[in-house]
Amino acid sequence: MKKYMKPDGFRKNPWSDHYTHLARKTGYPARSVFKLQEIQRKYRLIKKGHRILDLGCAPGSWMMYASELTGDRGLVVGLDLKPVTVSLAPHVTALVMDVFSEDASAWEAVGSGFNVVLSDMAPDTTGAKDVDAIRSLQLSERAFSIARDRLASGGSFVCKIFFGEDVKAFSEIVRKAFSQLKLFKPEAIRKASREIYIIGMNKL
Ligand SMILES: C[S@@+](CC[C@H](N)C(=O)[O-])C[C@H]1O[C@@H](n2cnc3c(N)ncnc32)[C@H](O)[C@@H]1O
Repeated sequence: MKKYMKPDGFRKNPWSDHYTHLARKTGYPARSVFKLQEIQRKYRLIKKGHRILDLGCAPGSWMMYASELTGDRGLVVGLDLKPVTVSLAPHVTALVMDVFSEDASAWEAVGSGFNVVLSDMAPDTTGAKDVDAIRSLQLSERAFSIARDRLASGGSFVCKIFFGEDVKAFSEIVRKAFSQLKLFKPEAIRKASREIYIIGMNKL
């Protein structure tokens, strides 16, 4: 039988298949959970009883995984433009909200004194690398400002950013707020992706 060949550019990405299937098999709504798992294995940021804020939390994989790590004595608050539809543990709250919102009562509901602020936020991509990198930087800057306001002293910050010319300058600004800073690219990131995670540890 003649084998059907997909044209170049339409080949399946074996990494994507592996992680997407694994996410489905293990009950998480998105493959991005494996990026946070790698970060957690390497840096051990999330601990039992921790309070976690997850910016850009939909469809909910990071919240599910973080809530397993905190246990029910911890708390996970997520926010996203989109609603989270997966079922979540009682100690997890997902809010539909824009991180750029200026609604004080909405921010009061989010709370503060978090041990870890996570941001896996990503803009809708245009395909134009420079435009996407600027939009990602804007989201990262906003995530950092929220982390500065809402992290407890000693807390950690994990922030996805698309690689662009301003990443170095941004990471230097983040570095000043933490005693340690790392740039980490998990294996689970698609090979063609320009994303990287900035990790600030031990907020000063
Ligand atoms: C890659 S997804 C996050 C996946 C999530 N970590 C998970 O594991 O399920 C990025 C999310 O960022 C959200 N996002 C983008 N801009 C946002 C904004 N201004 N405010 C809140 N969320 C935003 C998008 O709606 C999208 O759901």
